[in-house]
Amino acid sequence: MSERQQLRGGMVGVGMIFDETYRPFFETAAREGLYDRRFGLVDVRLAAIGSRTGTRAEAYRSSAPEEMQDFVSVVGPSAVDEMLSNEDLDFACVATPDDRHFEISKKVLQAGKHLLIEKPSVLKLDQLDELIKLSREKNVLAKVVYHKLLDPDHKKLRTLVADNVLQHVNNGYCTLLEPKLISGSQFSEWITGRNPGTYVAVHYIKLIDYTFGGRLKTVQATGQRGLVRAADSDTWDSVQMRLIYEYEDGREAAFDLHTSWVTPDNFPGYVEQEVQFRFDNGVWNGHSRKRGVELTVEGRTPLEMKQSINNHYNGSFLEPWGERSQRGYGIEVIERFVREVACVELGGPESERIERLKAMQSLPYNDVDADRQVVCAVQALEAILYSAANGQPDGVARVNDERGGLVLYLPGKAEPEVLYEPRL
Ligand SMILES: NC(=O)c1ccc[n+]([C@@H]2O[C@H](COP(=O)([O-])OP(=O)(O)OC[C@H]3O[C@@H](n4cnc5c(N)ncnc54)[C@H](O)[C@@H]3O)[C@@H](O)[C@H]2O)c1
Repeated sequence: MSERQQLRGGMVGVGMIFDETYRPFFETAAREGLYDRRFGLVDVRLAAIGSRTGTRAEAYRSSAPEEMQDFVSVVGPSAVDEMLSNEDLDFACVATPDDRHFEISKKVLQAGKHLLIEKPSVLKLDQLDELIKLSREKNVLAKVVYHKLLDPDHKKLRTLVADNVLQHVNNGYCTLLEPKLISGSQFSEWITGRNPGTYVAVHYIKLIDYTFGGRLKTVQATGQRGLVRAADSDTWDSVQMRLIYEYEDGREAAFDLHTSWVTPDNFPGYVEQEVQFRFDNGVWNGHSRKRGVELTVEGRTPLEMKQSINNHYNGSFLEPWGERSQRGYGIEVIERFVREVACVELGGPESERIERLKAMQSLPYNDVDADRQVVCAVQALEAILYSAANGQPDGVARVNDERGGLVLYLPGKAEPEVLYEPRL
């Protein structure tokens, strides 16, 4: 147990989310290691970054703490393949744009490395099937980042539901509004043809799916265009989804999810986010922006600093004992994954590795196998928006009906489109 062991991680995509959560995780882990009595002290390294040009990787190297600077930067069109075959990695994290997760994730699994994918995992159910199959064949983990499940407010909600204090959810709403700078500059390279629903509604789809269980039955969606791109383009400013679930007792619930990436940049918080869930015997109101702190600094808020600040996601602090730290549920979720990898690889004898692997794969909060209904909702959303942009609005997708696993119905069209044949 006293021997220092090592896990080597690779990173594909070094954009905003790398800076917000992966970077602080790897920096803290490089400094302090990762300890757990199941596997002892583990040295976790960011060993390699694979990217198209290497510009952001080098920019990071020049500002990184000394102990972080020795990662290998692999660049060019075959960067991911080279990184996976040459760098002796234990795991790789995929944080590329929403529609570029699948091919890279497949390569990671084919190379026999543990995989962590940013949400939304993939955009289609057949892609998810392939990742699940590969992870089982290669005996590695394939997990998705859903950090909102680790937000203490959402953990409390789930605890009250699990303990039957809050009984049978009937309906609810969730809203998550991102600033214009996201669609205007941060994602300008990949925003064309994309929508904010796939980008952020997935957080709440997973929260609903994981917290309340049930069977997804129906997906509806509408959206607006005209700010990010032209009003007749396939790029969306705002998206509204409605999900209908059915529970074991035959009762249903409906959830409305509103998302956008066109809130003014001088909004008092970075992201506006709020939920309300109505139960047979109660109501849960959660506001993830207005958590109680309001800050005003002359000349700095609300553009450079925000007035309502979320100190729970990835806050930077001067700790009471004098150290600087960055911590929160956005970082903790990545640390949990690396702990799971450490458990599998270092948590006991090799002869028991498969049992440890199966135990970690059975965790539904992040395993790809438990992501089916979320991906189903995303695939339905993408198909409904695609049809709307092509002159066929008001589509409805039904899950597990008599024609298939996911079926799209468009008004005025006699034949529905089967988007995914097998039952979910
Ligand atoms: N967990 C969260 O709350 C959260 C927050 C933001 C973003 N995300 C997700 O993380 C992913 C990345 O988002 P981001 O905000 O960092 O975006 P970003 O645009 O800031 O960064 C994307 C990065 O991927 C790289 N990239 C693009 N195409 C690539 C390719 N084919 N191969 C290798 N690298 C490629 C870009 O060069 C860039 O480094 C998205 O899927 C997004 O939905 C999650």
